[in-house]
Amino acid sequence: MSKLIVANWKANPKTFTEALKLVKASDFENVVIAPPYIYLQTLSWVLKKAALGAQDTFWENAGPYTGEVTPSQIKNLKVKYVIIGHSERRGFGETDEMINKKIKAALKVGLRVILCVGEDWNTRRKGIAAAKQFVGNQLKKDLLETKNLKIKNKNLLIAYEPVWAIGTGKADSAKTSAEMISYIKKILDSRYPSSRAKLATGHSQILKTKVLYGGSVTPKNAKAFLSQPEIDGALVGGASLNQKEFRKIINAQQ
Ligand code: PGA
Repeated sequence: MSKLIVANWKANPKTFTEALKLVKASDFENVVIAPPYIYLQTLSWVLKKAALGAQDTFWENAGPYTGEVTPSQIKNLKVKYVIIGHSERRGFGETDEMINKKIKAALKVGLRVILCVGEDWNTRRKGIAAAKQFVGNQLKKDLLETKNLKIKNKNLLIAYEPVWAIGTGKADSAKTSAEMISYIKKILDSRYPSSRAKLATGHSQILKTKVLYGGSVTPKNAKAFLSQPEIDGALVGGASLNQKEFRKIINAQQ
């Protein structure tokens, strides 16, 4: 199965010309490009293979909400995915309650949600059990009352992004992140039993809900992450802004 590589450009690049160059170099199957809102529409005319994602959205679909961009506006462009709950947004004061409202609104219009969860260093230094508890709590709050939305497997994705690994050059180990990702899948499995997919062998079950790893993914460590069977792909920030590096990450799974 091909893994999904998501490029989170954050507030980059500075000009549309640069964005255009970058997007052309990143246009491959199983890639999602999440540029700033202002580039979405024009880039949608250029992309042939990759899908587009927004980096955030609002929880209402229209109205007096200065500065917000709504799920239906995004959906009306050729945008398939939306990242919600990125730790940088949580850092600006976005709460689990706001994230939960955004997820529900985005799912309702048919966008595929990439929900970001992950613990800070204060939690992680207490050990993996503390980190699991933290992430479990985030999932519970962020996905509150989503069960009855009849989420299709493809429409909900999770990105496990330990906050201390984002933009720091200190990635988690592939083994520990794979352990955390199986834990996340177990939680999802019990929450959305309909999303189970039985293997032909009938025993162990694999969730179709993709769970990605994010946090300082580079060409050097990409293979280690992407070769873990539990890890369904990567959310790439910094390295997605460098054409050569990003291409190497895409190729790392082969
Ligand atoms: P990074 O960012 O790859 O630069 O660590 C990842 C992210 O913020 O999603």
